[in-house]
Amino acid sequence: MPEEITTVGVVGLGTMGAGIAEVFARSGCQVVALEQTDEQLESGRAHMQQSTDRALKRGKLTEVEQAQIMGRVRFVTDMDELGECDLVVEAVVESLEVKQAIFQALDKVVRPDAVLATNTSSLSVTELSSATAYPHRVVGMHFFNPAPVQRLVEVIATVVTQPQVLSAVEQLARKIGKSPVAVDDKAGFIGNALLFGYLNHAMAMYESHHATREDIDTAMRLGCNYPMGPLALLDLIGLDTAHQVLDTMYRQGRNRLHAPAPILKHLVTAGLLGRKTGRGFYTYEEAHSPVVVDDAQTPSTDSTARGGRSLARAGVVGTGPLAAEASHLLTASGLEVTHVLDANAGLHQLASVDLVVEAVADDLDTKTALFAELDTVCREGAILATTTSSMTVIEVAAVTSRPHEVVGLHFCDVVKPSQVVEVVTSVATHPEVSEAVRSMVAQGGVQPVSCKDRAGFLVNALLIPYLNDAVRMLDAQYADADDIDLAMKAGCALPMGPFEVLDSLGLDMALMVQRAVFRETGEPEFAPEPLLEQLVVAGYVGRTSGRGFREHPDT
Ligand SMILES: NC(=O)c1ccc[n+]([C@@H]2O[C@H](COP(=O)([O-])OP(=O)(O)OC[C@H]3O[C@@H](n4cnc5c(N)ncnc54)[C@H](O)[C@@H]3O)[C@@H](O)[C@H]2O)c1
Repeated sequence: MPEEITTVGVVGLGTMGAGIAEVFARSGCQVVALEQTDEQLESGRAHMQQSTDRALKRGKLTEVEQAQIMGRVRFVTDMDELGECDLVVEAVVESLEVKQAIFQALDKVVRPDAVLATNTSSLSVTELSSATAYPHRVVGMHFFNPAPVQRLVEVIATVVTQPQVLSAVEQLARKIGKSPVAVDDKAGFIGNALLFGYLNHAMAMYESHHATREDIDTAMRLGCNYPMGPLALLDLIGLDTAHQVLDTMYRQGRNRLHAPAPILKHLVTAGLLGRKTGRGFYTYEEAHSPVVVDDAQTPSTDSTARGGRSLARAGVVGTGPLAAEASHLLTASGLEVTHVLDANAGLHQLASVDLVVEAVADDLDTKTALFAELDTVCREGAILATTTSSMTVIEVAAVTSRPHEVVGLHFCDVVKPSQVVEVVTSVATHPEVSEAVRSMVAQGGVQPVSCKDRAGFLVNALLIPYLNDAVRMLDAQYADADDIDLAMKAGCALPMGPFEVLDSLGLDMALMVQRAVFRETGEPEFAPEPLLEQLVVAGYVGRTSGRGFREHPDT
């Protein structure tokens, strides 16, 4: 073990390697950055230059600091140049063979006491280390994308990694401003094991035309305050890397939710790898550019038309905060609103409105009884909207004589007040009705997204299974709630960790959605986690009950 790690080698200057080299150079380490060819080396250098240019522009670096950072990096194509390194981090393509070959070659070049680290996302660090003559000096050092921004580094020791190597790497991670989390050598570790199920699910949704790519991404950005939507994130990660990660995780864990969505393979085969090639799910100004440009799939921006329907007067039924939010939205969109608090007595006031939004208890009997009543009271042609979270729109619509006039209007539950509202089209909903409601939402200053009538609609369908996966990981004692929350916040820049979300959203509400998703798909991997079920039975439903995954004594 070197006394102190001051010189670091980085092998592979692609999406991750260039960022990792920058991180070490920023913290004062001397960096030797290796690529295969002069052309790839130049591309890696340009990547670092662009990244530090952006930091300079944002005032996060001075010109002098930028020059010092770039000056600390020696760009090379000859592996012998790594001889003086105390630590070498490999960040080449996610292939066991390629990575093992690199470790074998490094064995002949670096000092026997130098540490070898892999940035693999999903391969077994133990298997990789078996390729070297000194496996005790091998660790996983898993950075997140973009490496200069994300604070998390997962540090993975194998059964033979020397404890001093692990602690030196953890110490180094802190020195370079990262938060290390030690995890066992299991495919996907914490971050990717949870993230990639969600990303794969989003791709499957897109592929099945559940919603447009723009609506899927907007729904997660605004509905959960995520920094990026899942499809844009996949483009950033690189679709080839995403495919390799999912494929490895699937082969290791046989979790069907990790079987790569077919569209991913198609895009990779077509050479559409995401930002790095200028096209993936979206089209970019040029390779490596973050600027999305219009393409054939870009929807038209005309959201002002109300689909030929003129909506002037609306009604809201319900007493809770959701009814108040619906009423506020309708008023903001310019409608004259009648708010009926007592569904048993006041419905006659809605006889001539153009649209009714119900926000009564999310229970099938209550909702169907109300819809049957509204159907008799409201004029022909009036639109009826349900705010249900846990049932399908068609279940409610079917009790009326006008299922084509019934639509879902789902206010997302994580961020309050909702920044995004899902407009849900059932098998019967007339497109003109959905369009009219979508444009009403937009005119009310809230972002509408459209989706099909499937359990969980859009945001909950993507969010809740990911939370359920986190519960499974906790129950398996792979990591504790604090480390899992930290991993998702510091590694993926999510505003809250999964257990924070569960406690705030309500475990009962999450369970209800998870059950609906499981019932609809029959997919065993979507089965609600027993730990979640039992906490709900025990009455530990989160903040509102004073206890969920954590204690909340003040509530
Ligand atoms: N992309 C992500 O979001 C992300 C996040 C965390 C970890 N990772 C992991 O980081 C690693 C790299 O992924 P990436 O997305 O940066 O891939 P990438 O395809 O963008 O870059 C890989 C680079 O490695 C270089 N390379 C390949 N063989 C080499 C060799 N023998 N010597 C020197 N350079 C070589 C390639 O020229 C390329 O520039 C993978 O293990 C991946 O799982 C990726």
